[in-house]
Amino acid sequence: MKLWEGRFDAPTAKNADMFNDSLPFDCRLWAVDIAASIAHATMLGSCGIITEQESKLICDGLNSIADDIAAGKLEIEGAEDIHSFVENKLVERIGEAGKKLHTARSRNDQVATDFRLYARNAFDCLTESLAWLVDSLCLKASEGLKLIMPGYTHLRKAQPMCAGHFFNAYSEMFLRDMDRVRASRDRANVMPLGSGALAGTSYPIDRDLTCELLEFDMPCENSLDGVSDRDFVAEFLFDCSMIMSHLSRLCEDIILYSTEEFGYFEIADEYSTGSSIMPQKKNPDIPELMRGKTGRVYGHLMALLTTIKAIPLAYNKDLQEDKEGFFDAEKQTINCLNIMAEMLPSIKLNKKRMAKAAEAEFCCATDVADYLAKKGVPFRTAHGVTGRIVRRCIETGRTLQNMSAEDYRQFAPEFGDDICDVVKGKSCAEARSSFGGASPESVKQNLKSIKRRLKKYVD
Ligand code: ARG
Repeated sequence: MKLWEGRFDAPTAKNADMFNDSLPFDCRLWAVDIAASIAHATMLGSCGIITEQESKLICDGLNSIADDIAAGKLEIEGAEDIHSFVENKLVERIGEAGKKLHTARSRNDQVATDFRLYARNAFDCLTESLAWLVDSLCLKASEGLKLIMPGYTHLRKAQPMCAGHFFNAYSEMFLRDMDRVRASRDRANVMPLGSGALAGTSYPIDRDLTCELLEFDMPCENSLDGVSDRDFVAEFLFDCSMIMSHLSRLCEDIILYSTEEFGYFEIADEYSTGSSIMPQKKNPDIPELMRGKTGRVYGHLMALLTTIKAIPLAYNKDLQEDKEGFFDAEKQTINCLNIMAEMLPSIKLNKKRMAKAAEAEFCCATDVADYLAKKGVPFRTAHGVTGRIVRRCIETGRTLQNMSAEDYRQFAPEFGDDICDVVKGKSCAEARSSFGGASPESVKQNLKSIKRRLKKYVD
């Protein structure tokens, strides 16, 4: 039965119905829809808008529907949307009293309320998965505390660093995501229920009571905005997009570092795939697929922003398009976070390859320049001298490590015998002990702080 059929002579065309219906995807709102209806019916009873008896009948009926759906005894089908489905079932089960549930309410404030309740939980699921991932990254960071690897700029070897620094950098990104998710959740936790179709209601409702029952922070203060605001959906999709962007960068690094060319990481067999034709291949399909899914989540954000950009106040049916992208972004993002958290601990760090690479390609050149600068040579001059040393090494096939102190002194008299210890990957990394730097000690401090900030979310 349609909730609105009274005004019509003819039923909707079958195809129009199918086009219009949202039940195939909003069925997943059943639990929040019933919870919001129970709060609404409780309030109606407490305010004397319906009798306490009717209110109880309605709540019992709604609870029995919820129980049956949860137990798989009631299939969600045969209605326009989840709101119509629940109301139809209620009337089927308790009769006339069920027809009073929709007093002082519209599907417009109902769906906006349901979706915020659903989103609140989705934000919490993101937080939970992010916490798992940061925990995994911390594990790898502590493993990396003892290892040295090259850091890159422009994908060219730049300076040696403690390998933990790499993992901590991603923890910082995901911790920021956690902060962002929390802030978005707080902004979403405002209740539209009581806004009616658009202009509020003439019944003496108690919005503070429904707000308290549903654990919203406050009722929205403008009914037009309440029924039509989907900022929280856009924010959710942006938060997912940012998370996917961070995941995608991590995937890219994992893919690169696990190539034969780099050889710093080895992805475990459990998270690798083979080729149907090339027997030797071990492919990084999991991080590649994750990197690929980023586009799809960004797409949902762009779709929603486009959908809402020119909607006149207040509710318009366009807004029904807010859900499918949300559900998919939620599923993809949480899935990717969980798989990354699960896969990371199994990635092997190749200590030897990383250490060797940290001294290759003149990675320690900055430290040679810094050595001279610390002896009083102006840094720009020291940079020039070191550049000439590098050029000479390239011409003669030498490295900064196999030059003797005497060789160095041919370029500048300030070089002491200790220059040969300075150009070791380990000493270069250890030297970067500034706050936030790549020395093992700084990285250890960073890791401690990350764990402290993470704890805020798991307790
Ligand atoms: N299925 C609709 C949606 O998701 C529910 C609200 C319908 N309201 C309306 N006035 N047609 O937006």
